[in-house]
Amino acid sequence: MDNQQQPLRLGLIGFGCVGQGFYDIIRQQPELGLTVARIAVKSPDKPRSLPAEHFTYHADELLNDLTLDVLVEVIDDAAEAFRLVSAALRQGRRVATANKAMLARHLPELVQLEQQHGGTLLYEAAVCGSIPVVRTLDAYFSHEPLRAVRGIFNGSSNYVLTRMSEEGSDYATALAEAQALGFAETDPTLDMGAFDPRSKAVILAAHAYGIFLNPDEVLNLGIEAVGAADIAHAAARGQKVKVVASVQRLPNGRVAALVTPQLLGPESPLFAVEHEFNGVVVEGEYAGPQFLAGRGAGGHPTGSAVLADVLALRRGLRYGYAKRTTAPAVQPAEELELDIYLRHADVGALREVLTWLELPATALRTDVHGVYATGAVPLLRLAQWRDELRANGVFVARRGEVRAGEAVAESRLAAGAVA
Ligand code: HSE
Repeated sequence: MDNQQQPLRLGLIGFGCVGQGFYDIIRQQPELGLTVARIAVKSPDKPRSLPAEHFTYHADELLNDLTLDVLVEVIDDAAEAFRLVSAALRQGRRVATANKAMLARHLPELVQLEQQHGGTLLYEAAVCGSIPVVRTLDAYFSHEPLRAVRGIFNGSSNYVLTRMSEEGSDYATALAEAQALGFAETDPTLDMGAFDPRSKAVILAAHAYGIFLNPDEVLNLGIEAVGAADIAHAAARGQKVKVVASVQRLPNGRVAALVTPQLLGPESPLFAVEHEFNGVVVEGEYAGPQFLAGRGAGGHPTGSAVLADVLALRRGLRYGYAKRTTAPAVQPAEELELDIYLRHADVGALREVLTWLELPATALRTDVHGVYATGAVPLLRLAQWRDELRANGVFVARRGEVRAGEAVAESRLAAGAVA
């Protein structure tokens, strides 16, 4: 029997939305030869869809059970996930995880543990649910220089924005729906504050460019303050508000990463990505642009990605991280600039925000919904004021891609303008 048919005994850690989705898919495909032999969950009190004898409440029992061929970690506690996954890798085990927050913080250590102890860690389900983007970047584009990887990496915030723009829902109702449908994190501020897509951008940067970014150094602005006025402002210009993560190579060869709302027109393939769907645009130097889209959240779509990892582990797949040897430098935030739109219902508060961001009073504009502002702001300044912008309910969206000082100069020269 070749290893592609080898029956596997699985240890499943976590039985929430993703764990149940994965379990259900396996149950429907007995011919795969996969058995969920043990399931570990945290709470004995929570009602479960399976009888109690299926569960243990001590995940360490799965670590100690060496008859388990593969461990599948799908809990949402990043610290506990790191403890378990790193312990499993120290044992040289094969592990699939969906924990993006854990990966974004600990990827360098985990890759090192894998190499030291001969285990394998795969995590397709951690980024964009059902979309096979990690493997695409890692394997297919292993030697393609990439200009950019950008996209909608969070299903919940995209769901909220879609409901607000298409159905005129209010923010709170749309968010409650995203939670009820199982798309949102236990703490939905991770979705709405763009912390979750930031983790995913950090993971993709490791495969697209070979760099391990510190998530705390990647600017994330979310949609907690988005209002009907912002949606209508965009719609009046034929645009939509989307939360876009960008990891891009600048003309100077360095890499910049950020996640913010963006005002997008139909020229972008991300414009048509709605509800909990995610979309990823990969711009290859030689291949040109590629676009992947699919469900970014939900039990079955994410469970399908976990299954793909388990089957890949069975046939011996490992990530290559081929670009680590040629990893470019990261562009310092102080040299980057963004063209932004910002709004607050209170004009006095908006004027104060202009002083924080060192924008002139002439940045103020008026539309039928009230007063907003536009202007170019250094990324570092936005990062420095991020917490105050969140705390004060200011909605900020970018109106294009991030630029480096040199990039601006080069694009002006290319356009024939006088420097
Ligand atoms: N909360 C995440 C999202 C789940 O909404 O995209 C998938 O990672």
